[in-house]
Amino acid sequence: MHSSTEERIIRPAKNILGSLRLPGDKSISHRYGMLAAFAEGTSRFANFSTGADCASTLACMQALGARVRRLEDGRVEVTGVGGRVKPAAEPLDCGNSGSTMRMIAGLLAPQQGTFTLTGDASLSRRPMERIRKPLAEMGARIALTDGHAPVTIEGTGLSAIDYTTPVPSAQVKTCVLLAGLQSEGTTTVREAVRTRDHSELALRAFGAELTRTKDSVSIKGPQTLGAIEATVPGDISSAAFFLCAASLFPGSSLVLDSLGLNPTRATLLDVLTALGAHISVLNLEEKNAELVGTVQVTAPPEGMRSTTINGALASQLIDELPVLAAIGPYTSGGIRIRDAKELRVKESDRIALVAQNLRAMGAEVEEFEDGLDVPGGQTLHGATIDSGGDHRIAMAFSVAALRAEGETVIRGAKSAAISFPEFFDLLEHVAER
Ligand code: S3P
Repeated sequence: MHSSTEERIIRPAKNILGSLRLPGDKSISHRYGMLAAFAEGTSRFANFSTGADCASTLACMQALGARVRRLEDGRVEVTGVGGRVKPAAEPLDCGNSGSTMRMIAGLLAPQQGTFTLTGDASLSRRPMERIRKPLAEMGARIALTDGHAPVTIEGTGLSAIDYTTPVPSAQVKTCVLLAGLQSEGTTTVREAVRTRDHSELALRAFGAELTRTKDSVSIKGPQTLGAIEATVPGDISSAAFFLCAASLFPGSSLVLDSLGLNPTRATLLDVLTALGAHISVLNLEEKNAELVGTVQVTAPPEGMRSTTINGALASQLIDELPVLAAIGPYTSGGIRIRDAKELRVKESDRIALVAQNLRAMGAEVEEFEDGLDVPGGQTLHGATIDSGGDHRIAMAFSVAALRAEGETVIRGAKSAAISFPEFFDLLEHVAER
């Protein structure tokens, strides 16, 4: 948990107005940072994520022999190890970042040396069997601590695998692909629900060949990677807090420039449209195969309607569900979430914390093992919010607080820096009081 003691007070707002450009996408930054550090040559990235999670990835890769520099113009420069990492003398600290731990495990399992991956208290509670199993099937020597971190890896040559992921997870898919990249033969990952495909797009951008079908991705190893120059698109999961905030205030208008709009990530725009928000997308372009565009949102004058998020939608929106649930009381017909059991094993048990904090604000909410029912047409009051040191809970309830009566205290507000250190400043910038 990162400085979960710091508090922030959020006062109600009258409107959301303005234009923002958001820091680089966390998922893409992890992948660009990790692949550049593994590749041959020097890569440079503009708008790299400013979040602590991506700093954890860069620090681990530096400990493994990559060179990382912040250039004067703000870009991050990474010189890679050319496919062979240096054995790390110390355990690799993945901080709060599940992506770092799960993806790096796949990268290291076929390397030479012994590696230990550790994390903070929250990451040490998260399930790691999901990566141990496929890696062990490939021949990896990998041990967990009671199903969790610390993860220890004795690097060894691996064989290709054909693997169907039991739970939809881009982190697990990436872990297996990064091991497959370095293993003889064709590794295939099959998934019932297509998860975010930044790894597939990034691997191609760094020069790897892979083939894709509707529900699988295959990589023939071994392959080497080269360096790239790229601008990371704005993070749509960070944008979600602002898009939801703007959807709450009739008369709002918010423009977000250079936002990542990869179709595996942009489902939120469909959900907000279904709720009644007016969304337009302008200047759509492709950069390193990632879609980037400008998004403008205005709230429906008659208020937001209702929606159900379940099935594949739930996994595509997994990071946006806390904020959608948090604005549920302000819709007319409520928000119903199912098939989202994974929320219980994120940085916190997000189902329990969302329910607890909505109740603290005076809302009625029903909790299910795999979701929540948040009835609409409710009035909330300010309260003390327990973020549980979870960045997305802290930010989700800062948004709910904008329409509440009275002030809200967000405990553990500093955790926002895990993905979005600029969050509170930008919120103050667009909130009219
Ligand atoms: C991520 C994948 C998702 C998501 C996380 C980032 C990624 O996790 O919740 O914030 O960058 O691949 P899972 O793949 O475990 O669902």
